[in-house]
Amino acid sequence: MTRKSKTEIGPALLAWYDISRRDLPWRALPGETPDPYSVWLSEIMLQQTTVAAVRSYYAKFLALWPRVDHLAAAPLEEVLQAWAGLGYYSRARNLHACAQEIVAENGGAFPADEDNLRRLPGIGAYTAGAIAAIAFDRPTPAVDGNVERVVARLLALETPLPVAKKEISDFVAAILPKKRPGDFAQAMMDLGATVCTPRSPRCLICPLARFCCAASAGNPLEFPKKPPKKARPFKRGAVFVLRRADGAVLARRRPARGLLGGMTEFFGTDWREGRGEDWAEAALASAPCTRANWRLAGEIDHVFTHFALKLSVFVAAAPADFAAPETGFWIAAQDLSAAALPSVMRKVETCAFKAMDLRVAGKPA
Ligand code: ADE
Ligand code: SF4
Repeated sequence: MTRKSKTEIGPALLAWYDISRRDLPWRALPGETPDPYSVWLSEIMLQQTTVAAVRSYYAKFLALWPRVDHLAAAPLEEVLQAWAGLGYYSRARNLHACAQEIVAENGGAFPADEDNLRRLPGIGAYTAGAIAAIAFDRPTPAVDGNVERVVARLLALETPLPVAKKEISDFVAAILPKKRPGDFAQAMMDLGATVCTPRSPRCLICPLARFCCAASAGNPLEFPKKPPKKARPFKRGAVFVLRRADGAVLARRRPARGLLGGMTEFFGTDWREGRGEDWAEAALASAPCTRANWRLAGEIDHVFTHFALKLSVFVAAAPADFAAPETGFWIAAQDLSAAALPSVMRKVETCAFKAMDLRVAGKPA
């Protein structure tokens, strides 16, 4: 992009913003001085949350706590309660901690520069840039996901995100107008949210079309580039479905944390990469009852977000004198369909019951 174009983008965008800016309750009207508390509150709420969802919470918070010292003096419980429904609750905790820090250490005044803003709880690079620019009119880049998309298209950036972040933020710094950097930041966000949208950019009405490499090549949807997908790891495991004479099956609970946390599963080995085709027989040594007469019912496949899994499913009848291990419990046949089995375990159940020539509770075979 030519140096001339770089100086023209700011004014073109601001002219568009003066006509097309969104009316948002935390925005100062033209000529008004923005209130740092309002800007900060809105920016924290807008992290990971849409403008539509934020509106009513923003109004509620300002009504409950019109100034940062009110918020700092509120009990954390009340702040969390008012936040309920917005999600990502660490934001509410940080909001409260940040308010207290600003009151205790700065007499209730927000720092005006990016570096000091960044030191505060809940304020990362983007939010610090946004507050410095919007509340204090500092010429600081404020690059959120919308802005990344706009710039990646303007430059037809081949570098995928997130590697391109630095390049994008340097470009924004290079085109920042000295006048009205706060409006420029919000104009970029509005352009990304209303014109240069993820799936249907409206290049025909875009004020930046004449500077835009992707628009002139006709391929804005190809940007921003995504990093190549890593192949999903492939894991294997064995699972053991032990059935009592009355039809109850042996199960256990998964640990509360981690994948499928707290859900019910059949006993089995861990799920591991690098196991060959013929490992499963050896796994019988780790069955919940090694003296049962295990036979292979089949295999099931399941794809999780981060790996693909193949489970060898073994079935056996429980010996009459078998007692469930401490970690296990029996699920009665009639309770099985209501049990908290994740879908991978439903596949195991189906496979096992087919092999045992039984009917899945309530369902004809
Ligand atoms: N997203 C995050 N902050 C915003 C703002 N100030 N205006 C529009 N969209 C935003
Ligand atoms: Fe986005 Fe199209 Fe505008 Fe380029 S011209 S910035 S692709 S809307």
